[in-house]
Amino acid sequence: MKTAIITGASSGLGQEFVRQLADVFPEIEAYWLIARRADRLEEVAESLPDKQVECLPLDLCDLMSFSTLQEKLTAERPEVALLINNAGCGYLGNLGEMPTATQTRMVDLNLRALTAVTNMAIPFMTRGSRILNVSSIASFCPNPRMTVYSASKAYVSAFTVGLAEELKPKGITVTAVCPGPMKTEFLDAGGITGNSKTFATLPYCDQVRVAGGALQAAKAGRTIYTPRLFYKFYRTLAKVTPVKLMVKLAKT
Ligand SMILES: NC(=O)c1ccc[n+]([C@@H]2O[C@H](COP(=O)([O-])OP(=O)(O)OC[C@H]3O[C@@H](n4cnc5c(N)ncnc54)[C@H](OP(=O)(O)O)[C@@H]3O)[C@@H](O)[C@H]2O)c1
Repeated sequence: MKTAIITGASSGLGQEFVRQLADVFPEIEAYWLIARRADRLEEVAESLPDKQVECLPLDLCDLMSFSTLQEKLTAERPEVALLINNAGCGYLGNLGEMPTATQTRMVDLNLRALTAVTNMAIPFMTRGSRILNVSSIASFCPNPRMTVYSASKAYVSAFTVGLAEELKPKGITVTAVCPGPMKTEFLDAGGITGNSKTFATLPYCDQVRVAGGALQAAKAGRTIYTPRLFYKFYRTLAKVTPVKLMVKLAKT
């Protein structure tokens, strides 16, 4: 059965991906929803009466979650038609001034879990399968005060470009979506709300449009998709401007 695996499906952009998935990929019949909050996943599942939805309440920062997912994949052997690596977190604050566990959480979730879930899912993919990774405009240039977050998203974008080339012979596409700020729980959870002039001034992206555009980009097999003209321009600027100069402008 064609299956989609969506991480971070309990809120924000992830929930929006799930809501719009059938519009873009109607052939996918089964959804595996991953996040920590089981009650929120159940609510999302209840809104999808026409699909076979399974909620997997896993903490992807915990290595045990990888064993649980691997065992389920091995036992059920689904055809993974779409993997959306969306779960992510980003905390505002300087290195050396925040708990180590907070800084390393971004590495564990944004890099390690994304890498692990992708590695486990690929053997269950076939020609035409798609991987959609949620990166960020933070991947375009290092962002002081969110140094770990922006480096983690630079990994996501670089990982996407490399893997897209690696999987070409298998007919599997890999896409990274790079949204600007969105009004989701991410902002409060990361201590960003009210503490960053940059976030207060930047134009916001609408997660409904980001999710729709990203699903279409994945369907079209695009490698990098940046919503909004403003951020397409920012991406180009970051490519042509010396990084030592850009980094001064990119402080969160
Ligand atoms: N909002 C923005 O401004 C913005 C901008 C650019 C990119 N992004 C990226 O967009 C993606 C989605 O974020 P969002 O804005 O939709 O924020 P969000 O509402 O906070 O969503 C984050 C999702 O990740 C899940 N998650 C967090 N920690 C987890 C863990 N340890 N294990 C499993 N799941 C976990 C959360 O579910 P549980 O809490 O239930 O586990 C939630 O479903 C992230 O990758 C983020 O970096 C966000």
